[in-house]
Amino acid sequence: LVDARKGLLTQTRRHATIASLLGVRHIVLAVNKMDLVAYDQAVFERIAGEFESVAASLAFRSVEAIPISARHGDNVVADSENMPWRDGPSLLTYLENVEVETDGGDAPLRLPVQWVNRRSDAFRGFAGAIASGRLQVGDEIVAAASGRKTTIARIVAMGGDLFSAAAPDSVMVTFADEIDASRGDVLCHPTTRPNVADQFAAHLIWMSDDALLPGRSYLIKINGRSLAASVTDIKHRLDVDTGAKSAAKTLSLNEIGFCNVATAAPVAFDSYDENRTTGAFIVIDRFTNATAAAGIIAFPLRRATNIHLQEQSVSKATRARLKHQSPAVLWFTGLSGAGKSTIANLVESKLVERHAHTLMLDGDNVRHGLNKDLGFTEADRVENIRRVGEVAKLMVDAGLIVLCAFISPFRAERRMVRSLVGEQEFVEIFIDAPLDVCKERDPKGLYKRALAGEIKNFTGVDQPYEAPESPELRLSSAEHSAEAIADRIIAYLEANKLLSV
Ligand code: ADX
Repeated sequence: LVDARKGLLTQTRRHATIASLLGVRHIVLAVNKMDLVAYDQAVFERIAGEFESVAASLAFRSVEAIPISARHGDNVVADSENMPWRDGPSLLTYLENVEVETDGGDAPLRLPVQWVNRRSDAFRGFAGAIASGRLQVGDEIVAAASGRKTTIARIVAMGGDLFSAAAPDSVMVTFADEIDASRGDVLCHPTTRPNVADQFAAHLIWMSDDALLPGRSYLIKINGRSLAASVTDIKHRLDVDTGAKSAAKTLSLNEIGFCNVATAAPVAFDSYDENRTTGAFIVIDRFTNATAAAGIIAFPLRRATNIHLQEQSVSKATRARLKHQSPAVLWFTGLSGAGKSTIANLVESKLVERHAHTLMLDGDNVRHGLNKDLGFTEADRVENIRRVGEVAKLMVDAGLIVLCAFISPFRAERRMVRSLVGEQEFVEIFIDAPLDVCKERDPKGLYKRALAGEIKNFTGVDQPYEAPESPELRLSSAEHSAEAIADRIIAYLEANKLLSV
């Protein structure tokens, strides 16, 4: 819907792009308020022509441009007397006559399991709405995720038992054999299965004020199931004004990007082109529970399926036992200048005095090597902590006590690292010093430069620090000496059996 006085806006182009991605194939360009441009044919033709070039790069099969005046009813229901130059249907006539393709009844069966009914020990009913295709009693079917086969014993609907059912019926089915299928699994016929993978490429339409940060953990909801997922790569961002694809590190509100997505476990899905139900998902922010994006799956990424974790004969426990210690991550977080590195250094010396095997990972040092390609934008900090978390996990596997000193300003990433290692193995240590104290200390002169605008994205100056809500230890470096804090940390490790007395 375009205002004849204003012509095409970015919003028009965005909506057209989204409609195209969503599989809408027939579009009406309603040029409204023609009365306010004196029903001028040239104005209409110019806008219609402009939209034609927008539509050329999109997947529409037909575009019908109609000049209307909603206020006076011109070309809405009946043809307009004010626009005798117009040769074409009114809006309503067009809508009543446009031919739209239907999916047809021969699409492959997709029955996403929305609910498992366990009425009694012996009874298992799998309920959901048939997304496409049909099924009947006696059909051999597969639960896509596990690949287990069985036959349909009963199909139950609101009115009672059925012999067969088809999309979009809601049904509950029972199986001849006891096989496992849970919420989010997709029932299908053995010869026409959906993809099952833990990585896929998808278009994301970002709808949150908080930008998408690759590497951050989100929830995705797909086929009725919610699970953790992250964007591993933004392949490109779509410029809705020009149709151009450009490189991007984040997606902001209203932006559309083509991304690689990794899920915490394999999921069953189709490409959106093949199935609009099993090929769509939403992204949810884990902290606010708000919907952050709509996702449209393009294709599975096979890389995930070809790599299998190697069984290792020497375990983390064996390596740790040889070192006579309990491996752990001591995660120091806090503002720049709070004293994280100083205190972590002291703690490491005290551990080594007691023959512990340790490793120190420090922001300033890691950023000279492994992470020298990263800066201080939110996206880069997320990636910084993701990589450090993975390294810390490997070192814990090696049996070491790993000390990590990073500002790590975001709760989401600290929680992500915690989830990489065992709950008992992660000790979050908040080195707490008021911002004013850090600014006053300014050991590297960075606050001065940040406040003068010479350094952008400085934590506490023009980027937030999200203080831990429930760290294992909160220690005030404004009130206590580094030495006293280090002793306090050692005492904590002893009390929690992470260090033998
Ligand atoms: S983190 O936020 O990604 O965890 P990290 O701990 O690795 O940060 O690095 C912080 C160190 O980088 C600081 O101690 C400081 O010396 C240096 N630094 C340089 N620029 C910035 C900046 N914009 N914000 C914070 N620290 C910065």
